[in-house]
Amino acid sequence: MIDIHAHILPGVDDGAKNWGQSLEMARMAVADGITVMVATPHLFKGRTIDRTRLNTKEIILQHVAQLRHRLYEEKIPLEIIPGCDFPLGFESLQLLDDGRALTINDANRYLLLELPDTSLPPATEEICFYLQSKGITPIITHPERHMIIQEMPYKLKRLIDSGCLAQMTGNSLTGWFGRRVKKISRQLVKLGYVHLLATDAHDPKGRPPLLSEAVTELSRLVGENRARAMVNDIPGKIIAGEPCF
Ligand SMILES: [Fe+2]
Repeated sequence: MIDIHAHILPGVDDGAKNWGQSLEMARMAVADGITVMVATPHLFKGRTIDRTRLNTKEIILQHVAQLRHRLYEEKIPLEIIPGCDFPLGFESLQLLDDGRALTINDANRYLLLELPDTSLPPATEEICFYLQSKGITPIITHPERHMIIQEMPYKLKRLIDSGCLAQMTGNSLTGWFGRRVKKISRQLVKLGYVHLLATDAHDPKGRPPLLSEAVTELSRLVGENRARAMVNDIPGKIIAGEPCF
């Protein structure tokens, strides 16, 4: 399986705290059947907009190179691809335009787009349109955990109809985030509003890098072939920078 959203790089955000945790996460992912993982640190290290505390393209590429080396040394068969968890906002866009923010695999074709936790700003569609005008497809991350989309799924539909993709967190489907999120996740999947699953892993225990149980749940909803596509073919095309559909 291919996981396109994981906070596995150590000491750069609220994900893995050190190399020990990074390697433990890598071992867990491999044991669960994950062979490729996109390392996606938050663009702003402290989660608030602070241009002095950034995970720039250079920082992420440097950490990815180090992690690849550590995995090679430890004989852990996990391929790491560079990426970024990109928050919706004009400040972030400016950093992207300046070449300081990283898209998935540095290909300028796909970008993980994180909405603010409790709001859906009026500029969301405009920002998505702007990204698409530059040839970048926004991938809306974990819509099932977003307060407004939970109440009004048609707001997600609008974004999808305008060309965005949606990535669900695997563990939302397994009940990790509670019954309500699980129920909403099932609804969004059945409505056809979900294109791929990823772990959004942050550490080995609280937010682990696991997908297989979620794929079993997903298979019950959409059949095994479509479920497998959401963790193999589609993320594979995203990494390759190819059209998904
Ligand atoms: Fe994330």
